[in-house]
Amino acid sequence: MCGIVGYIGCKNTSEILINGLKELEYRGYDSAGIAILDNDKIEVYKALGKIKNLEEKVSHNECVLNKDNLSIGIGHTRWATHGKPTELNAHPHLGEYSYVVHNGIIENYKELKVELLEAGHKFVSQTDTEVIVHLFEFYFNQSNDAQDAFNQTIKRLDGAYSILLITKSEPTKIFFMKHGSPMAIAKNTTEDGDEIYFASSDAPLIGHAKDVVYLEDGVSGVATNSSLSFSEEVSWDTLPTSKQYAQKDGYRFFMEKEIYEQSDVVTDSMLGRISDEEIIFDEIDANIIEGINEIKICACGTSYHAGITASYLFERLTKVRCNVEIASEFRYKEPLLKKDTLFIVISQSGETADTLEALKMAKKAGLKTVVVCNVDNSSMTRIADATILTRAGIEKGVASTKAFSTQTVVLWMMALYFAKQNNSIESEFLQKEIQVLREVPSSLTVEDKLHEKCRRLSKRYLHGHGFFFIGRDVFYPLALEGALKLKEISYLHAEGYPAGEMKHGPIALADPELFTIALMPEHSHYDKIKSNVEELSARDSTICAISPLDFELADDFIKTSNKSHYMLEFFEMLVVLQVLSMEISVRLGNDVDMPRNLAKSVTVE
Ligand code: M6R
Repeated sequence: MCGIVGYIGCKNTSEILINGLKELEYRGYDSAGIAILDNDKIEVYKALGKIKNLEEKVSHNECVLNKDNLSIGIGHTRWATHGKPTELNAHPHLGEYSYVVHNGIIENYKELKVELLEAGHKFVSQTDTEVIVHLFEFYFNQSNDAQDAFNQTIKRLDGAYSILLITKSEPTKIFFMKHGSPMAIAKNTTEDGDEIYFASSDAPLIGHAKDVVYLEDGVSGVATNSSLSFSEEVSWDTLPTSKQYAQKDGYRFFMEKEIYEQSDVVTDSMLGRISDEEIIFDEIDANIIEGINEIKICACGTSYHAGITASYLFERLTKVRCNVEIASEFRYKEPLLKKDTLFIVISQSGETADTLEALKMAKKAGLKTVVVCNVDNSSMTRIADATILTRAGIEKGVASTKAFSTQTVVLWMMALYFAKQNNSIESEFLQKEIQVLREVPSSLTVEDKLHEKCRRLSKRYLHGHGFFFIGRDVFYPLALEGALKLKEISYLHAEGYPAGEMKHGPIALADPELFTIALMPEHSHYDKIKSNVEELSARDSTICAISPLDFELADDFIKTSNKSHYMLEFFEMLVVLQVLSMEISVRLGNDVDMPRNLAKSVTVE
């Protein structure tokens, strides 16, 4: 969790760091801070909450360059793991003469802290990070050599981390280390000298430099404005030039913009991957499915819901057994991993710690691995045997929307692709499905009328003692996703449930204050789900039905259009659930894009 940035050069460092942190704010926004070399002094600024609070504090700083025409700085935006969100716990953490920002977790910090306390070091925060500066100073006090002290320090750290450290003794250097958490470094040559930029992802670097290195685990080094050295050989890449930074484009929230964007981005997801006759994935071996007896999918959160959806499609189409696991559970269950299993991880960010670890386990066990991911050059794409990019573009809303629709469409295409390789579907069937796929973008269009209906309905669903989202087949994971969206941004209790399972317990909760959001597609078990909803209605639950077919028992009814295929109904209903959650959140006055307690990318266990 968290995002870090760093800079060495002759520009206004505080401005560069603040702008960089704004690009990373989605990774965490409990507090933020920077340490900058101002003339010859290192100044530290910290603020609780969002980056704009830090920006206000820093606004008077003119960032005077030192005698070598240079400035230097490091910054951090935090999502609390150890210690509450307070200024003392905010980064940069400082000792007597050194400053550190850190993304990740130091798992052995307690042992290190005991050792350092015994050696006379004084701690002021409750964080794991503070041990890093004290450890550095412990070694520096012995050797009086910053490089040696840094090397000794990083050898002692367990866990996942990326670190930037500066010190008063050599104030024009940034020491860095990457292990587990991401770090990218870019360099740029200007008339006034070289500049080096550091960040947790390439977003803050774009527009500042052309060359970038995405550090591999275990690589450390030191940077000055004229030299950049690494502990091992690195490979330089070219930074993307198109700065697709998500501006809100007139929408109220990034989430709203991203919901409306879905019909365009799924078109990108399909681009070059479908012809009239076949599905094409140049990224994967044509025979990847050969000899495979099982498909295992692993993911977290919304990506997990896309995974469950895919499991129905994979098994139905390929006739290969498919199961789905929550990555955080999978890691510790001592899973049986057989080489004839195809292991697929799904992740918007490509950085989710649990999913990443699951992928590493599968890779180590010799399984064929594929990642379905939105971020190229992310940790997962660098590890998996094959990457299928979802091409959703940068997703800024913490609540995933377009990540889910693009994942689902890509996974559906993969299911068809594997099924064809496996000869479990006929060419004629594939061609028909391809025609259906072409209609997905229009199913994801947000009609004004529908948005208005959700806006009006939202006022009736602000209270009560909970929501059940129910569905069957692929509409069950869609119900899970609808409930997750509502929970995340409205803070109302909601559960997704298989509709047929309600009678096995949860129906006991039914009363007028229990809101049931019923997904009732025409082309997937309509009669079955209708009976399940009737059972709930008979017990007085308030029913909001979403269906193309009139349903007289509904207290509220959102009519979807008549689609020809259940997956088209799936996408249309997805939009309804997303818009409804957003409108409920708006009425409750919540921060739609940055809901409390959450972060966009969960890079800790
Ligand atoms: O980047 P990932 O897809 O791996 O992230 C997984 C979850 O953390 C993520 O989907 C989370 O549940 C979202 N906030 C859902 O909206």
